[in-house]
Amino acid sequence: MATGISEMSFHATTRLYAQHFCTASPFISPLRKNAKANQRRSLHARSWGISEKTHNFQNINLSQPFQSRKKFTECHCQQASDIANLSHDEANSTWVQDAVNKVSQVLGSTNGKGAIEFENGSAKHGEDPTLVMPEPAKDLQPKKTRGSSLVEDEAWRLLVESMVYYCGGPVGTIAANDPLDSNKLNYDQVFIRDFIPSGIAFLLKGEYEIVRNFILHTLQLQSWEKTMDCHSPGQGLMPASFKVRTVPLDGDENATEEVLDPDFGEAAIGRVAPVDSGLWWIILLRAYGKCSGDLSVQERIDVQTGIKMILKLCLADGFDMFPTLLVTDGSCMIDRRMGIHGHPLEIQALFYSALMCAREMLAPEDGSADLIRALNNRLIALSFHIREYYWVDMKKLNEIYRYKTEEYSYDAVNKFNIYPDQIPPWLVEWMPSKGGFLIGNLQPAHMDFRFFSLGNLWSIVSSLATTQQSHAILDLIETKWSDLVAQMPLKICYPALEGQEWRIITGSDPKNTPWSYHNGGSWPTLLWQLTVACIKMNRPEIAERALEIAEKRLSIDKWPEYYDTKSARFIGKQARLYQTWSIAGYLVAKLLLEKPDLAKTLWSDEDAEILNALNVMVDPTNPRRKRGKVLKKTYIV
Ligand code: GLC
Repeated sequence: MATGISEMSFHATTRLYAQHFCTASPFISPLRKNAKANQRRSLHARSWGISEKTHNFQNINLSQPFQSRKKFTECHCQQASDIANLSHDEANSTWVQDAVNKVSQVLGSTNGKGAIEFENGSAKHGEDPTLVMPEPAKDLQPKKTRGSSLVEDEAWRLLVESMVYYCGGPVGTIAANDPLDSNKLNYDQVFIRDFIPSGIAFLLKGEYEIVRNFILHTLQLQSWEKTMDCHSPGQGLMPASFKVRTVPLDGDENATEEVLDPDFGEAAIGRVAPVDSGLWWIILLRAYGKCSGDLSVQERIDVQTGIKMILKLCLADGFDMFPTLLVTDGSCMIDRRMGIHGHPLEIQALFYSALMCAREMLAPEDGSADLIRALNNRLIALSFHIREYYWVDMKKLNEIYRYKTEEYSYDAVNKFNIYPDQIPPWLVEWMPSKGGFLIGNLQPAHMDFRFFSLGNLWSIVSSLATTQQSHAILDLIETKWSDLVAQMPLKICYPALEGQEWRIITGSDPKNTPWSYHNGGSWPTLLWQLTVACIKMNRPEIAERALEIAEKRLSIDKWPEYYDTKSARFIGKQARLYQTWSIAGYLVAKLLLEKPDLAKTLWSDEDAEILNALNVMVDPTNPRRKRGKVLKKTYIV
């Protein structure tokens, strides 16, 4: 494929420049600028109303750090974006103190116990003066009896407190922010996928800076040389997470600098490659443009090149026969072994969504014509494949039940040689007469019949599923409410793997025991995707019902990462508390249900061209249909 060489090399040169100019260690990618420029503080010091209902909580300014910066004698940073002048003096404690005082007022806790103290402009909380953590004291906890707007205010406060700063500007949110957790693992990092609901919550609130910074800084990390045992991931891979580290500045013992340190999976448990990161990045980029109206970010040459690098990685030819993306186990939200290697639905839905978003954003120019054509072809093929072969409902299940096997021919009905005995006994009972869903995975002679929530919801949001299928998925969620929602929305997958299956498929993973964590646990963050899907299909009442259930428990339970048991009665065995994407997922759902029109910025409508091409493919009078030769296939990517 013609890759727009000049742009690629421009991109690479900028990165090399940054590396040459800044790097002290080859394993760290510092993005810094000179000390003078460092005196500038990021973007507008604007007032920002947290709650439109409770006016006590205003003037929280996301441009200012919530952390004390006093431990840094000096900070050298390279900003990825333009930065308005605002002196360091303005980044003093006043804002922090003001904001937290207001939080205390809102929560009715100005007495000594619950209040966060200040000293020299830094928030003091226990031993660590650099962090303002969620207050564990009882009187700061929301009261069970109070109205939901207080839960919302608490959620905003926690979201603001989870913000991570790099050289004075907000760049993301930490995965979990529990002050009492002594074993944080990598939950103190900014995860790309976890930031998506945070970013969207900020966008919906009209706060764009943090999202812009996140997009531009993660772009700089995109193809950083990272290796695992001498092997580097493909250029274009986005990290799973990153951390802001403060390190001594070379040659100056009194100075430190902040660096962004990405993890591409080379340190992650199981060394899993985060395939979803780049896809989510593209989706967020499009949402940023739609919500803010600022298209200048997506139009930047480095951003355009970033999009193309992700696409290039995804569209590269391999050995695969299918248009779906082939990945290893644990390459998405489910980032441990759960038997989802191959062509998991979640990745396919995000892939389709990212292709749709990229198509909207890519600047038409000679250099990218081949790429755009390859992208269009893939959209059609992927859409056909998923709609046709991943779909199950009563009718389709009955067809599979009667499948002939070992068909050698171009027009086989049972193309993947699925043995009917594979239909699991639970599904025979479980499949409702009204409704259906997209299965979790499809491989030769293998259908993974488990229901995966995120993949199904995002297929609705991205229009990967047909309108009819989308309604049927929501029908199924309604009919199977006590299995999929029960006491906390939403089950990550259904049903759980048990016994020998659990032993073999998860490798006896003690975190993924039946009905826990990824193995049938319930994840409140999924509320936001459920809400977008329901609003898109004009069925917001389903999301409202789910939100009502979540709202009763989330704050009281301290915003857990996930819930356990078949009906989600318990807080997850190893669930983090104050998990940011549980908080943000709730906020996005809340905001969207209040202003459903905003959800349009997050979904993709069915595309007429794709629909047309699909109709041609299934048209029985089309002579080329049988061999699937409707698409012109001439592109080398
Ligand atoms: C767990 C989840 C993953 C998430 C991470 C940080 O590993 O499986 O999806 O990104 O925690 O919250």
